[in-house]
Amino acid sequence: MLFIQQYYKTICLIFFTFVFLLINYSYDFKKYYLLHPFQPIQSIPPLDQSLLFHINGSIKSIGKASPIYIINLPSRPDRRTESIALMQTLNLEAFIVPAYSIHSTEILSRNKYRNKLLLKLTELACWASHMRVWLTIANNTPCQNNAWSIIVEDDIDLEIDTPQIMQSFSHSIWNEADLIYLGHCANTPGKLIDQSSQHNYRVHQALHPSCTHAYAIRSDAARKLIYLLSKPSRAIDDSIVKLVDNHQLVAYSIHPPLAMQQPVSKNNPSDVNQIDRQSFIYRIQFSIYKFTQWLYSVPSYEKLNKSALQKANLTKAISWRKMYEKGIWKNI
Ligand SMILES: *[C@@H]1O[C@H](CO)[C@@H](O)[C@H](O)[C@H]1NC(C)=O
Ligand SMILES: *[C@@H]1O[C@H](CO)[C@@H](O)[C@H](O)[C@H]1NC(C)=O
Ligand SMILES: *[C@@H]1O[C@H](CO)[C@@H](O)[C@H](O)[C@H]1NC(C)=O
Repeated sequence: MLFIQQYYKTICLIFFTFVFLLINYSYDFKKYYLLHPFQPIQSIPPLDQSLLFHINGSIKSIGKASPIYIINLPSRPDRRTESIALMQTLNLEAFIVPAYSIHSTEILSRNKYRNKLLLKLTELACWASHMRVWLTIANNTPCQNNAWSIIVEDDIDLEIDTPQIMQSFSHSIWNEADLIYLGHCANTPGKLIDQSSQHNYRVHQALHPSCTHAYAIRSDAARKLIYLLSKPSRAIDDSIVKLVDNHQLVAYSIHPPLAMQQPVSKNNPSDVNQIDRQSFIYRIQFSIYKFTQWLYSVPSYEKLNKSALQKANLTKAISWRKMYEKGIWKNI
């Protein structure tokens, strides 16, 4: 009996390893061998500052990082309402930056140069949106002043004590990194950098910081990314992971995460990630992902300790929007 059990376990393990290797192999194959020569995509113009939408708040920074930029499509007022409500709940000052969509002329004009296999149109729009914030940061910060900013996407929830938790870390964390991820998708924590004495949070070296929904970035790092990622060939989170792997960037991540992406649903459709969660491939990838997480004992955090969005007042945010939205932000 025991023998048969062992036998099944071994078969299972071999099967999983096989599927895992197969999927990874085909992914790498796609990544490395189908790199057709392609025309570089031209960089995008810097942001007209008058397009920034200012949200009032008496807390100006998270740790040493300020200002906070929120990337939002003008055509997604639902997500804008939530982002505003989130900032109001934390009493944070922030600036909403217009995102590029797959319909923006800047994106469509670059579409013909896109490597269709490695970079989806939505990923190109996402690259352009982050690139535009990096350009804004580079333009607004004098070179000798290597200052931090925060960039978040509009579909996040934050831990309610985020500013206090970030404040509780040693100041030295802000001296060594290029990027600090407040939210990360199952990033493997590397070396322990710091531990908050008041809060149960840690800063680790980030070994595989996927997802770009909430990160602090230094102006020098923004300049580096503008230069290194000026010709996107894959999704920006993958590109950044590659730069971290090559020691061209130093990234830290906060554990447990302070920012989470809200799950994509019918009520909250994604503009970037059109994942079909019902598909067979997705389910296989998801089980392999869960399996490897279990194998490397990566703790999975399904939710925040104290969600700010749960405390947020959407009614107040909607009336605030009605009062202050103008230009591209209005009447959509
Ligand atoms: C921002 O706050 C100031 C002072 O609290 C207030 O006078 C002003 O009307 C506010 N502006 C917006 C856009 O909420
Ligand atoms: C979560 O919140 C509880 C209650 O406020 C607190 O005791 C606990 O330490 C928090 N956990 C973390 C990881 O901060
Ligand atoms: C939310 O905001 C509205 C309008 O500002 C206010 O009337 C209402 O009492 C608030 N709701 C809660 C639960 O605080």
